Amino acid sequence: MAKRSKISDYAGGWALVTGAAREHGLGYAFAHRLAAEGLNLILVDVLDEDLGRRANELRNQFDVEVRTATCDLGESAPYAPIEDAIDGIEVDALVCNHMFTPPDTPPILDMPLETHSRMIDINARGYTNLIHRFGTAMRDRGRGAIIIVSSGVGLTSGPYTGAYAANKAFQLMFGQALWYELRGTGVDVLVMIAGLMNTQGDALSKYPRWLMAEPAAVVPEVLAALGRKPTVVPGFASRAFLFVQTRLMSRQLALTSIGRFMASGLGKND
Ligand SMILES: NC(=O)c1ccc[n+]([C@@H]2O[C@H](COP(=O)([O-])OP(=O)(O)OC[C@H]3O[C@@H](n4cnc5c(N)ncnc54)[C@H](OP(=O)(O)O)[C@@H]3O)[C@@H](O)[C@H]2O)c1
Repeated sequence: MAKRSKISDYAGGWALVTGAAREHGLGYAFAHRLAAEGLNLILVDVLDEDLGRRANELRNQFDVEVRTATCDLGESAPYAPIEDAIDGIEVDALVCNHMFTPPDTPPILDMPLETHSRMIDINARGYTNLIHRFGTAMRDRGRGAIIIVSSGVGLTSGPYTGAYAANKAFQLMFGQALWYELRGTGVDVLVMIAGLMNTQGDALSKYPRWLMAEPAAVVPEVLAALGRKPTVVPGFASRAFLFVQTRLMSRQLALTSIGRFMASGLGKND
């Protein structure tokens, strides 16, 4: 059985983080922490200018190399901007964090079919493409770390965010099976089952404050779980919330209560 890794084992190596362009986003919080641990970075996002800004901030703050790849991860693989940015280097840590969800969060049947397809392309196919590309290379080298950012709604479902919840369930199932299949290969897989985080400005302001975690506080807890277990739910409030929804309630009661919770958090008339 290979020794379990810590993220600091990859200091001096390279991490690729997707969805890393937004200043208050989780992807940037991951990138910041990985740079602090001494990893060089490849930052990926669709937002070109923001990506450049984040890369400069990290270069100024840490003694690491930072490359960027502006890339629509809903396109077909291979992703040329990522391959160009990599240019022969080996990626030791992959953080799949990007996501696309429409801001108006319509019910499933009111969301255009093209939007459903786009979500599946970015949030399911995009994750598969990246994990297959870098996971096989890691397995061949016998070392690496893959972190997949899923969500509590991937376990519980989430009315009004049903398509998103289904995408998150895909990521969770994919990652858990991969964890098992890669045990003993030197490649650690960890699925982060995220609760609500303060990343979206006012968009999530109707949800209760006590459930809202700060991304910078969440990331160290996630990185500390790497190599120890297949999944992590960071934050006591999120763990308690999920425990009630998944262990103490019937499925029907959980769906009804989450439906009301989502409706009120998203400002829907239910
Ligand atoms: N925030 C929460 O409460 C929460 C809760 C549970 C799970 N999560 C998960 O945590 C992760 C980060 O969330 P966040 O709130 O930090 O979101 P975020 O700030 O919106 O970050 C996601 C990033 O992915 C980018 N992106 C969207 N479509 C893309 C594409 N086709 N190709 C490449 N990049 C693309 C986004 O760009 P645009 O902004 O232009 O779309 C954005 O910069 C996501 O996987 C999310 O599902 C978040």
